[in-house]
Amino acid sequence: MASSPVTVTVTGAAGQIGYALLFRIASGQLLGADTPVRLRLLEIPQAVKAAEGTAMELDDCAFSTLDSVEIYDDATAAFDGVNVALLVGARPRTAGMERGDLLSANGGIFKPQGAAINAGAADDVRVLVVGNPANTNAFIAASHAPDVPRERFTAMTRLDHNRAVSQLATKTGAKVADIARLTIWGNHSATQYPDLSHATVAGRPALEVVGDDAWVRETFIPTVAKRGAAIIEARGASSAASAANAAIDHVYSWVHGTPEGDWTSAGIVSDGSYGVPEGLISSFPVTSDGGQWTIVQGLDVDEFSRGRIDASVAELVEERDAVQALGLL
Ligand code: NAD
Ligand code: LMR
Repeated sequence: MASSPVTVTVTGAAGQIGYALLFRIASGQLLGADTPVRLRLLEIPQAVKAAEGTAMELDDCAFSTLDSVEIYDDATAAFDGVNVALLVGARPRTAGMERGDLLSANGGIFKPQGAAINAGAADDVRVLVVGNPANTNAFIAASHAPDVPRERFTAMTRLDHNRAVSQLATKTGAKVADIARLTIWGNHSATQYPDLSHATVAGRPALEVVGDDAWVRETFIPTVAKRGAAIIEARGASSAASAANAAIDHVYSWVHGTPEGDWTSAGIVSDGSYGVPEGLISSFPVTSDGGQWTIVQGLDVDEFSRGRIDASVAELVEERDAVQALGLL
């Protein structure tokens, strides 16, 4: 029997990622084929007409899982009663920029949206921030939602995780389904640390299967960390379908749980694990039981990994201090 509708609000609904995301949500790929979705699209006033066009197309798909579509240009109304909030709406970087360069342009979006979530979201709200710089934008939003448990605010590093899985599968000739226990640590930025130390390929240690430390350090890590820039360079626009796919994966894993014996990566609030200062939103190895994310504990962190994690976390601290100075906290 179908469950009652779940309210999903997507910001930036008329943007590139929005266009790749909405149809997948509406067709049941986010929450499952038995869960009707009440879709709310939030846009800036100038983009409402374009969002209306997308809503017409959603209607034209006649998805049995789509309960309704409503369009808003007011965050308080769009987040009223929301169960799943996908905060995508923000400016993308262009060639030559780092994601952190977007802080002053985008940070201001997340303060009122955090406050609106605080004011009206459902008790079980789950928030995924996609708009860059995603970790720090999630930090801003969470800071303005004091009544919502902080662990409900997450930032997307699943795209980095998926990129890393794909690179490792290609290198080893394995299927993506054979790759497990890979981790993205830190910030969704060029300082992120894609970590193969605990990863396995068909049950064997990935580092042993690869057998080439130079490839790991000089090719794998920079390829994953700079993949966003490489896509911008090639496409002339930032990743959209793969970003939408990662957003679906993130929420799907959160709601349905991660497979036994494996984990994924997500930007979640630190509890101080692995030396990451408490409160920062950093990527960790995580599992979900279908309710909440849990950081995988007890992994050995060697000297190389320690240096990489610390460098990315230092950048998160800098970003936090920068948004503090901008008056966004
Ligand atoms: P886009 O420019 O195509 O779309 C952004 C949309 O957001 C626009 O329609 C704009 O009108 C809307 N918007 C702006 N301010 C808004 C607000 N206050 N409320 C609601 N909507 C608002 O950009 P895109 O390609 O869809 O990318 C969106 C964001 O996602 C960018 O910041 C990009 O860098 C980021 N991104 C993150 C990841 C990740 O892995 N975390 C991956 C890809 C892209
Ligand atoms: C990505 O990783 O593709 C996005 O964060 C877009 C970007 O600016 O790199």
